[in-house]
Amino acid sequence: MRTTTRLAFISTASVAMLALAGCSGGTADPDSTGDAAENVAPTTMKLALNQTEEHPSFIALEGFGECLTEGTDGRWNVEVYPNSTLGDQAEYVQSVGDGVIDLAIVSAPQLENLSKDFVIFSVPTVFESIEHQMQVLADEEIVGDLYTSLEESNNLTVVGGFTQGARSIYLKDGPAETPDDLAGKKIRVQESPVFISMINALGASPTPMAFAEVYTGLQSGVIDGAENNEVSYFTQKHFEVAPYFSYTRHLIGSDFLISNTDTLSEMSESDREVFDGCWTEAWEQHTDLWTSATEDAIAGAEAGGATFVEVDEEAYADALAPLLDEFLTTDSQKALYDAIKDSAE
Ligand code: GCU
Repeated sequence: MRTTTRLAFISTASVAMLALAGCSGGTADPDSTGDAAENVAPTTMKLALNQTEEHPSFIALEGFGECLTEGTDGRWNVEVYPNSTLGDQAEYVQSVGDGVIDLAIVSAPQLENLSKDFVIFSVPTVFESIEHQMQVLADEEIVGDLYTSLEESNNLTVVGGFTQGARSIYLKDGPAETPDDLAGKKIRVQESPVFISMINALGASPTPMAFAEVYTGLQSGVIDGAENNEVSYFTQKHFEVAPYFSYTRHLIGSDFLISNTDTLSEMSESDREVFDGCWTEAWEQHTDLWTSATEDAIAGAEAGGATFVEVDEEAYADALAPLLDEFLTTDSQKALYDAIKDSAE
């Protein structure tokens, strides 16, 4: 049943993709064609996002687009497609590499499927805090090579990373104060080996599923729970169908802005500088918005009947500790992990 739903979803998304492919690149906004200072046809880049218009990522990325249009006199523009209208994140990775869309926000586990080095962002305890995470995700010395490492293989450039805040587990039928409360529960995970192992380590049963399918998965009982931050819990309305949010805070998640590498290389050097500057502004705005969006999400979900409970942190930490050895196996992963840890000191 889930397969049928998913196939139907993919085919709708594929139709949208084909429609877009026909009009991608050089799509001039009549209002912004006036200044052809560099004699370049204006380009509108499609940016795929699986969040709603209320989410800090949408707000910051809209600002990114406005900044880019202004800074390049309309030569480069961004149109953000929220609400998974261009499909799910696994499809974004493929479509951005193929150039069907130019930009997308994808969660770290999606890139883990292309290069094992990206697993580093999804192992519990890697970041001490959101501040530490933000410092790392913008530190050229630590992430510079990683961000360009998919250019030759996949035609993807990582522009930078947003925080997802701390992720926690929520259930339909009660709190999960210790991992024992999760025994046998079907928990939705992102499509990635590290997330699957994480839920297994807690004694629950992982169910990989695209983000947009989680609400109906919870509602229909295909899954008993999921894990995410408070902002997505609220904006995706998951609290309506899984009202027990337990603060497992098992990791601080990362979202990456990925771009088609060829598209970026078409920018003049000065337009690329504007692009990078606008991204930095968007990234700062996102980080600023995150705290208030989290507070608003908690208040909104509580008003809608959700309960937030603290958990036995030590019991969770002990259950998850083996993941570090299981997933940090190569020299490059270990070097990255050490560089991230050292930067916190
Ligand atoms: C967060 C994250 C998304 C991700 C989602 C998920 O909301 O910001 O990028 O897709 O979690 O669990 O799938």
